[in-house]
Amino acid sequence: MQSGSEIIVIGGGVIGLATAIELRLLGAEVTILCQSFKAAAGHAAAGMLAPQAEQIPAGAMLDLCLASRDLYPKWVQKIESISGVDAGYWQSGILAPRYTDEQGSDWLDTRSIHDRQAGLGESVVGGYWHPADGQVDNRALMRSLLIASQSLGVKFQDGVEVTTIHRSQGRVTHLETSQGEMSAQHYILATGAWSQQLLPLPIVPRKGQMLSVLVPSDRRDNLPLRQVLFGEEIYIVPRQDGRIIIGATSEYVGFAAHNTLQGVDRLMTNAIRLFPSLRDFPIHETWWGFRPATPDELPILGASNDANLTLATGHYRNGILLAPITAKLIADLVWHQQADNLLSSFSWQRFELI
Ligand code: FAD
Ligand code: GLY
Repeated sequence: MQSGSEIIVIGGGVIGLATAIELRLLGAEVTILCQSFKAAAGHAAAGMLAPQAEQIPAGAMLDLCLASRDLYPKWVQKIESISGVDAGYWQSGILAPRYTDEQGSDWLDTRSIHDRQAGLGESVVGGYWHPADGQVDNRALMRSLLIASQSLGVKFQDGVEVTTIHRSQGRVTHLETSQGEMSAQHYILATGAWSQQLLPLPIVPRKGQMLSVLVPSDRRDNLPLRQVLFGEEIYIVPRQDGRIIIGATSEYVGFAAHNTLQGVDRLMTNAIRLFPSLRDFPIHETWWGFRPATPDELPILGASNDANLTLATGHYRNGILLAPITAKLIADLVWHQQADNLLSSFSWQRFELI
């Protein structure tokens, strides 16, 4: 494409914003249409950069995740230098405690894991340490991306829903939106859990409930946790500002809003079992969000059936982690028509539905 080419990104979550910025830096005129910036899963996430703690098996997905984790420090620095907003990137490492003995090659025995982290629950018998995994403050990242995109001249239209993608003869002709018709030379679909409302892609919402507590003010100078704990059906993510994020449920309940007593109860019980002193910490917030889940839990990236529509969706549990690599691969594909080998495993054609 040539400098000044017009691109519409549908969806202004972490993936839409990151991709829009990359394309703008290459010279595109980019507009983002976003039904609700506030509703994006990017705000709801825990911000873990955790290919190893998430136990992603060896293969294309792990390669993609590791490549993105490698890009993170420089990518965040770039976004922060454009926006002036710190995104709270922290290579804190992730400790993965277990309640049953597993004895792998990098297994920490009972004594080693309790030495590494004081205050773990008594029933922790060992675990794994993943020093290269880490975290970003995903809410701060969302702010940083939004401001960076706007200061580069990306037009971000919040509150605009795309209702229909009109197609003819293998091309998108225009979009119908809540604000009238809009068109561009190229379109990128980055609508996360809502993607099936526009195209017959096999993406469903997988709800996650979350809560946060605050480290009591007299303990802020010496935070009780300085690494993420990724336990069994629970994770505990300490932020440097004294918040501790606790997540998450994983529920097939459609787009059902709100926290439930059962969801929050499960989080509190599991968190206290893993790190008992949390029981005295004040609750700060509760919230929920919708992960975009595909049947094989891999994202859908790259070309679609229409020559001028590219797909960047279905990032499920790892969209914060995968934002830098997705933005890079999609921008290279759209702008330079260069399809990186990494993309080949993530085509929509593996489902053959459209
Ligand atoms: P979203 O961030 O959901 O953004 C999609 C946007 O598209 C929304 O703003 C929506 O309003 C807009 N949109 C939808 N339909 C339309 C339409 N028709 N027209 C216009 N706009 C539209 N990932 C990690 O890497 N690490 C984590 O620790 C982590 N923890 C998580 C915890 C929870 C509880 C949840 C829910 C998710 C978590 N994730 C995590 C996953 C991550 O948040 C998602 O994979 C990621 O946010 C997906 O990004 P996205 O931009 O595709 O979608
Ligand atoms: N990656 C953490 C979650 O999706 O809950």
